[in-house]
Amino acid sequence: MSFAKITGTGVFIPEKRLTNEDLEKLVETSDDWIKARTGISERRLLDEKRNNSDMCLHACQEALKNSNTSPDDIDGIIVATVTPDYITPSVACLLQEKLKTRKIFAFDLSAGCSGFIYCLSVAKAMIENNQAKKLLVVGSEHLSSIVDYKDRGTCILFGDGAGAVVIESSKEPGILSVCLGASGKEAELLYIPGGGSKDPTGYRFLKMEGKEVFKEAVKVIQSNSLEAINAANIKTNEIDLFIPHQANMRIIEAARERLDLPLEKCFVNIDKYGNTSSASVLLALHEAVKESKIKKGDNILFSVFGAGFAWGSAVVKW
Ligand code: UT7
Repeated sequence: MSFAKITGTGVFIPEKRLTNEDLEKLVETSDDWIKARTGISERRLLDEKRNNSDMCLHACQEALKNSNTSPDDIDGIIVATVTPDYITPSVACLLQEKLKTRKIFAFDLSAGCSGFIYCLSVAKAMIENNQAKKLLVVGSEHLSSIVDYKDRGTCILFGDGAGAVVIESSKEPGILSVCLGASGKEAELLYIPGGGSKDPTGYRFLKMEGKEVFKEAVKVIQSNSLEAINAANIKTNEIDLFIPHQANMRIIEAARERLDLPLEKCFVNIDKYGNTSSASVLLALHEAVKESKIKKGDNILFSVFGAGFAWGSAVVKW
C-alpha cells in the first residue's frame, strides 16, 4: 500500500501591503474595528504586472526545491482557485507551461476557500491508487481582482497570495483523512453574482452576508474537524497543530475552544495576510514549517469553511 505524503511546501507572498490605515482612506472603517472584529492588520496585493499563474509558479518552485523534486518528476498539477487568470483554460495548464514539466495532466478545482482541502482528497486518492507518484497541489488567489474596495463588509478581509505542496507516494502514512461537505442552499450568502454565464456583465465582485457565514463557519469547522479526527483514527488530544482557515480571528478562536485545543496548538497568521481563500492554509503551513512548529510524526489538522457553502477538514501526519 502506498501512502500520500507532503514532502515540500512553498509560497508566494506579494510585496505590496494594504494596511488597515490604507483602508480607512477607502471606506468608513477603523484600524481598531478591523483588528477587534477580525484580527487582521494588513493584507498583500499582487502588482499589476503579475497574474495568479505567476504566483503559482513561484510557490511551486519553492515547494519543488524544498522537497528536492525536479519538475520532470511531477505527474500532475492541481490548482485550487476562484480567481483564475482566464475563465478557460485553467491556471494549472498555464502553470504546466511555466514550469516546463512533461505534458502531464493539469486542472483547476473550484471549491471556494476549501479548494486546497478538496485537492488533498483528490491527490490522496490518485496516489494511493497508483495513478500518480508525485503531484503539485496549489492554492492561489488574486482576490483583489474580485474585491469591491467600496464595500467595507468584504474589502477589509481579503488578500492575495499563493501556496504549494509536493505530495508524493510514500511507505509512511501521510494524509490520514480528508472529510468534505457542501450545501448549495446557502450559495448566495457568499458569491459573485456577475461575470459567469448567468449574468456575464453583472456585478463581478464578492458579495457576502458576513454574519450568516460566520455563524455557520464556527459550527461546521467544529463538527467537520471531529469527523476528520475520527476518520484518522486518533483522538483530539493527539493533534499537535491545528491550522484553520484564516478567515476571522473570532471564528478561529471559537472553533479552537469548541474543539478544546490549547492556544499553543493553533497556528494563526491572519494578522499579516487576511483571508487568502484557498491559499490560506498553505501560507500558514509553510510558515509553521519554517518556524519549526512542525516536527516529523506530528499530526496536523486543517479545517476550512467557505463559499458554496463548501467545507473540508484533513488530518496529515508529517
Ligand atoms: O472565507 C470565507 C468565509 N468568510 C468568513 O468566514 C467571513 C465571516 N464573517 C466575518 O468575518 C464577519 O461577519 C465580518 C468581519 C464580515 C463582520 O463582522 P461582524 O462582527 O459580523 O459585524 P456585523 O456585520 O455584525 O456588523 C457590526 C457593526 C454594524 O454596525 P451597527 O449596525 O452595529 O451599528 C456594521 O455596520 O459593525 C459595522 N461594520 C463595520 N464598522 C466598521 C461592518 N463592517 C464594518 C467595518 N468597519 N469594516
